[in-house]
Amino acid sequence: FSDFLTDNYHRQHDYLRISLTERCNLRCVYCMPEEGVPLSPPRELLTTPEIIMLSSVFVSQGVNKIRLTGGEPTVRRDILPLMQQIGALRSHGLRELCLTTNGLALHRKLEAMVEAGLTGVNLSLDTLDPWQFQIMTRRKGFDAVMKSIDRVLELNRHGAGIKLKINCVVMRGVNDREIIPFIEMTRKQNIEVRFIEYMPFDGNKWNQGKMFSYSEMLDLIRETYPNLEKVQDHKNDTSKTWRVPGFVGRIGFITSMTHNFCGTCNRLRITSDGNLKVCLFGNAEVSLRDILRKSNNGEPIEQEAYEAMRKIEMDRLQGLTGTSKPLGLPPGEQELLDVIG
Ligand code: GTP
Ligand code: 5AD
Ligand code: SF4
Repeated sequence: FSDFLTDNYHRQHDYLRISLTERCNLRCVYCMPEEGVPLSPPRELLTTPEIIMLSSVFVSQGVNKIRLTGGEPTVRRDILPLMQQIGALRSHGLRELCLTTNGLALHRKLEAMVEAGLTGVNLSLDTLDPWQFQIMTRRKGFDAVMKSIDRVLELNRHGAGIKLKINCVVMRGVNDREIIPFIEMTRKQNIEVRFIEYMPFDGNKWNQGKMFSYSEMLDLIRETYPNLEKVQDHKNDTSKTWRVPGFVGRIGFITSMTHNFCGTCNRLRITSDGNLKVCLFGNAEVSLRDILRKSNNGEPIEQEAYEAMRKIEMDRLQGLTGTSKPLGLPPGEQELLDVIG
């Protein structure tokens, strides 16, 4: 493993998240305002050849998992050729190619994506009720999302082996009543349903009172499934995994608000305008786009990318000391989390 991607804490950053666009075809209330987010001028965004070039540099240095995110990655018109070219890095050590998507357009492109090498889909869905969907996303599209889920499961029945996770942001008084129906999806289907603690951001105008914590979710779930059991988490997982005995699928919790997981985080991020970041919550960024654009005719950029990594490592340090530290923990919660891990 190249020391290029290893930080002072000996964490090997072998997982790269690339944002393909800032745009999205939904307007989830907790994420964006009705009018959408301000968009960067197109010349500031990474081109497809630049994304391929960066992916191949990182894979050559030891990255073995790439996740494509957004905004909504499927709104990028050339997503398929892009995935095909990233998929081709499998022969250079890439093991997983994953997509985080709202599922609106996925069903149309899924088969071709799997052919290109797609191995995992994290699909965002916060409600199983079409009306509530329209309220939470400010758009129509529930049926299309369900169709995407069905398509993934159908391909899996034919051996595609796509790892499917459903991301559900839980908000008090909004969709907390749907936790149990979501868990029922794991009864017969190999899906990991992950409940995400809602994060109040400056822009999303939803107050902290809407946060529904991990421990509250566990309490609520145990009322229906008293035998809920913990499953061993993988080393770098950001979620805590559980299951109902006898159910095929699993349940995960992403506890960004009450329990930070920076210490084991192995992710690198490239924003759609080409900045390298190590932390979701950090501010330090280095423009790989500028490095690429000033290097003549594809001169190797490894050295400069290495320096970029060292420069932003300080940001990771901040993460470790808790930039994402718990907000408003109910009394006793931290103790509970320490016990159940
Ligand atoms: P896998 O572990 O590969 O399945 O992906 P993931 O869970 O990292 O990615 P996904 O895009 O599905 O994101 C799910 C949730 O995790 C989102 O709510 C993110 O905001 C959150 N998340 C992702 N990475 C981090 C991180 O480094 N720190 C924190 N606090 N949250 C993160
Ligand atoms: N709080 C919690 N999760 C959020 N996501 C987006 N905004 C927020 C927020 N404010 C989730 C999406 C998606 C994942 C990538 O991030 O629902 O599933
Ligand atoms: Fe934000 Fe994802 Fe919803 Fe789009 S689908 S508005 S990116 S949370």
